[in-house]
Amino acid sequence: MLEMIEKIKATTEFIQKSVNFKPEIGIILGTGLGGLVNEIDIKHVMPYETIPNFPVSTVEGHSGKLIFGILGGKNIIAMQGRFHYYEGYTMKELTFPVRVMKYLGIEKLFLSNASGGVNPDFEIGDIMIINDQINLLPDNPLMGKNYPELGPRFPDMSEPYDKGIIKTAIETAKRLGIKCQTGIYAAVSGPCFETPAEYVRMRNSGCDAVGMSTVPEVIVARHMSIPCFAISIITDLGVPGKIVEVSHADVIKVANEAEKKMTVLLRELISSL
Ligand code: HPA
Repeated sequence: MLEMIEKIKATTEFIQKSVNFKPEIGIILGTGLGGLVNEIDIKHVMPYETIPNFPVSTVEGHSGKLIFGILGGKNIIAMQGRFHYYEGYTMKELTFPVRVMKYLGIEKLFLSNASGGVNPDFEIGDIMIINDQINLLPDNPLMGKNYPELGPRFPDMSEPYDKGIIKTAIETAKRLGIKCQTGIYAAVSGPCFETPAEYVRMRNSGCDAVGMSTVPEVIVARHMSIPCFAISIITDLGVPGKIVEVSHADVIKVANEAEKKMTVLLRELISSL
């Protein structure tokens, strides 16, 4: 069986042979947020199932393609559809594409997701710029053998999200008249949404929003020293007195509605970097 590092190199080589494109920025698009793709001047598309060693996405609302093109004047690679722990992937499998994007040459990673807001000041449809994270998943993608070529055994996590990009994003949002919250995102395994008691516990543990993604990818990106920037769409509220029944369809509906402003913000942010 191939070691992870050999798989990363083999997959990178396969992609480079197929597309001959050097991306500067990697983008991972979350639930109901694939519409940014319409803004990309697309040069190549690779469905995940055609890429050796790539996991294949299973969840509704995630179509599963690697897209190469130009956005805001920059060469980007976008993952339309990501992998989640609740689908049964290991943390190493679901973060494998981030490793490959680094080897393809990305210098920054942008991520989006949908989450439940636990900050009582938040409203459904708000955009939250993530400024820190809490890993409440029962695992870590860096467990097991460390490859010094990828990063250190004990990576620093003092700046999971790049302060400079956050500052530019807040200024860009202001200029565009887009209301933005900032806050801490906690990742849980799902797939069930939280009980009212669990939402209260999340709030008490210091987070503003809770979701089922992003944290593993950011850990792996920071292991490789890639600056990260992430936006969460608040699709439902885990705030006492405001908790109602929530479904995946509701999450996708709100995400789709908020997608337009997130797309404009990301495009303008990328072009200003
Ligand atoms: N909890 C966890 N994940 C989520 C939620 C939530 O309330 N909303 C969207 N993703």
